[in-house]
Amino acid sequence: MQALLDQIAAEMAQATDRGRVADYIPELAKIDPNQFGIAVALPSGEVLTAGDAETPFSIQSISKVFTLAIALGRLGDQIWTRVGREPSGLAFNSILQLEQENGIPRNPFVNAGAIAVTDAILQGRQPREVLAELIRFIQAAAEDDSITINQAVAKSEQATAHRNIALAEFMAAMGNLRNPTALAIGTYVHQCAVEMTAAQLARAGRFLLGAPGCPRLVSIARIRRINALMMTCGHYDASGEFAYRVGLPGKSGVGGGILAIAPGKASIAVWSPGLNDYGNSKLGAFAIEKLARGMGWSVF
Ligand code: DON
Repeated sequence: MQALLDQIAAEMAQATDRGRVADYIPELAKIDPNQFGIAVALPSGEVLTAGDAETPFSIQSISKVFTLAIALGRLGDQIWTRVGREPSGLAFNSILQLEQENGIPRNPFVNAGAIAVTDAILQGRQPREVLAELIRFIQAAAEDDSITINQAVAKSEQATAHRNIALAEFMAAMGNLRNPTALAIGTYVHQCAVEMTAAQLARAGRFLLGAPGCPRLVSIARIRRINALMMTCGHYDASGEFAYRVGLPGKSGVGGGILAIAPGKASIAVWSPGLNDYGNSKLGAFAIEKLARGMGWSVF
């Protein structure tokens, strides 16, 4: 596998069409697109890497997997009264469906759905308590207590969060937000600003493998359900394409990271900051496709 990872990293280093870095969050617009890292964590905890796998990046929407796991733990199936479980077929930050569907977001991974999940786990607490719980969860999953939030990224997103504030205010108008909008959004932009390396993210994904030796933070039944949502909704309106090409559950973020899970076998993290038209890492998706094919990993 190490030879395959080295080969993928070498190939990605040559790529000229690398996509565009997210520029609607000013701090992310500064990131050099000529970077690529890949890491694979095995159930044993062993991690294989290639490229820039030790460079921290903003996990952004990948944080939504961790907040969903926390929400399922705190609220159980009650969370499904606040958010649906269907792919949206629309961009991650789309406003359109929310009005048509009475303020109930389609799934926990589109921005509106993730804001509803974050609001649900606030439960009247202060954002700092929820963020501390999230960081503890991620650190336990990664077995690494050095993981933190990049405050500059959080501040930068907060300053330009108009669309997310609009989504939150609309949900408030429809009775689907329990806390003041500012608290829900403040928590949300900080969760998105968690910073990790590909090696750390691959390790953190081991809690979704359901294999002996992995941190057991959620039940096997919930591991299956979180993976199902990653497969159907984890890449927004490109989720079908990712399932077709890669055949594994995955979750992307506009920082250019992707976490993919080969159930029972491996947790894979890639990072390349250039995005495709759907806001997912362009080279990241290619790289996971090559790795999954090379290793014969697929849930099908
Ligand atoms: O709310 C936002 O727009 C960002 N903090 C997260 C969006 C994101 O990562 C979409 N993923 N590809």
